[in-house]
Amino acid sequence: PDTNTLDTSAAIGIIGGTGLYRFFADDEDVADVRVETPFGEPSAPLRVAKVGGRRVVFLPRHGTHHEYLPHRVPYRANLWALRSLGVRRVIGACAVGGLRPDHGPGVIAVPDQLVDRTTRRDQTFFDRPELLGPRWSPTGPIHVQFADPYCGQLRDALSGASGDIVGSGTLVVIEGPRFSTRAESLRYAREGGTLVNMTGQPEAVLARELKMCYGTVCLVTDLDAGVEEGEGVTTAQVFAEFARNLPRLVDVIRGAIETIDPDDECSCAAAEHDVEPLFSSADVK
Ligand code: ADE
Repeated sequence: PDTNTLDTSAAIGIIGGTGLYRFFADDEDVADVRVETPFGEPSAPLRVAKVGGRRVVFLPRHGTHHEYLPHRVPYRANLWALRSLGVRRVIGACAVGGLRPDHGPGVIAVPDQLVDRTTRRDQTFFDRPELLGPRWSPTGPIHVQFADPYCGQLRDALSGASGDIVGSGTLVVIEGPRFSTRAESLRYAREGGTLVNMTGQPEAVLARELKMCYGTVCLVTDLDAGVEEGEGVTTAQVFAEFARNLPRLVDVIRGAIETIDPDDECSCAAAEHDVEPLFSSADVK
């Protein structure tokens, strides 16, 4: 389709994780948009279509063909690109491991907390004054609040989308790309973690910096090494289990989209710092 004649702005963004590279059905009218950001290109062109009358944009986190391992995903470009298309609410979908026996394969969970164990990822937009120009920090140094890393409204929308969703939990985000050792896994569980993955951060904080609501919906693909007495997780297991449950996950996301009112106000957008100038100025590229 000719994107010049289509309105590609969208209030809701979906970031698909492992196993979720396409969100819209073949018979849905889509437009692909290439976006350049000060942080390079996003993982893939952004795909825009309507869901229940609302324009939604989808971006596969790892690239259309899973080109990017978790530590190489261009998280900053991804969040920036979504925001530049007008997105104010982001749903991140993730494959995760379960850290407790009652969080086994097939469980869909919407965590309310995260523990960041990543070590070498850029976690902020606001450390590049040379790139963003004089407006990079209009209100002084920016340290966003992150006590509650997920948007309450989005969590409610996601966990209300189906009767069998686990509506809370703590997602431990490891650096990867390897899976955890048994000792690491046991430690995360002992410390209160319920789920583990490799991509939950820095997506959540980057969305917060751009004053977008962010919520994550996790599909458990395996029990992590500390719970399982066997060989530990394999990549094949993660992909197979994800494929089996993908239609349920897509239904949950579509259900959530339909209950979100894009005009609702949310405190995620009320942070003190101003990001609007970064997206409305022609001289900031
Ligand atoms: N993604 C899916 N399963 C995982 C696990 N067990 N550990 C880390 N990331 C994962």
